Amino acid sequence: MKIAIFGGTGDLGRGLAICFAAAGHEIIVGSRSQERADQAADGLREALPDGKFVPMENVAAAEAGEVAVVSIPWEGIEATIPALADALSGKVLISVVNALKFGKAGAIAVQGDELPGGAQSCAHKIQELAPEAKVVVAYNNLPAAGLQERHHLGADVLVCGKSKEARDTVIALTNDLPGCRGLDAGPLANALIIEGMTALVINMNKRYGGEASIAITGLENAPPAPAAAGH
Ligand SMILES: NC(=O)c1ccc[n+]([C@@H]2O[C@H](COP(=O)([O-])OP(=O)(O)OC[C@H]3O[C@@H](n4cnc5c(N)ncnc54)[C@H](OP(=O)(O)O)[C@@H]3O)[C@@H](O)[C@H]2O)c1
Repeated sequence: MKIAIFGGTGDLGRGLAICFAAAGHEIIVGSRSQERADQAADGLREALPDGKFVPMENVAAAEAGEVAVVSIPWEGIEATIPALADALSGKVLISVVNALKFGKAGAIAVQGDELPGGAQSCAHKIQELAPEAKVVVAYNNLPAAGLQERHHLGADVLVCGKSKEARDTVIALTNDLPGCRGLDAGPLANALIIEGMTALVINMNKRYGGEASIAITGLENAPPAPAAAGH
């Protein structure tokens, strides 16, 4: 599949790009700047010589991708998404975006009026700005460094979105990430919970070291949980 990643120049975008490309997907490396996209694609080819990485500005990337990932800081949503909305119409649009702030006590999930435009979550704001896209939240809690190193994470990826078909598309893609299992966690209404959990993951990493992921136990009819290995 052709997967466009807006912010494919950044830490998480690079991790997803390497893992998806290793699974055989073509990655459109999106950026606000063609030059940064070119540089990022060069770096990705160094990391994975067999991978297919095509650098483009974000708008061209939105047009070229069959599925797209928004992998930018939450402060950039309102400046970035409107220009991409037309090209994303009818496509699955994965939001990995978390609104977090960092204080002395640790990472804290931004909520309520502090979210962009007072939206219910980052994913809701993205859906509002790209109304014809099928927005799905996923990968919000995965570690960028572990993905870049293609660690077998042993992680469950909680997937929320309005359309079940879109959630199923993302779950299938997730199973291409090393040691990851996609789980259907229901409607987009719960996106803020997934986004906010990243604050807890960051605080646990700080307290205990390592790269935590989320794992769900006790499901009877889900695919087997992946075991962590390769750290
Ligand atoms: N890092 C992680 O481990 C991790 C894990 C899970 C989820 N996330 C989430 O994933 C998203 C990306 O995280 P990251 O660590 O990869 O971020 P990042 O490296 O700081 O930024 C990613 C890319 O976003 C673009 N960007 C930066 N500021 C922007 C702005 N104001 N408007 C539009 N684009 C902007 C830049 O690309 P160009 O300059 O090339 O356009 C940058 O390379 C965040 O929302 C984060 O919460 C991160």
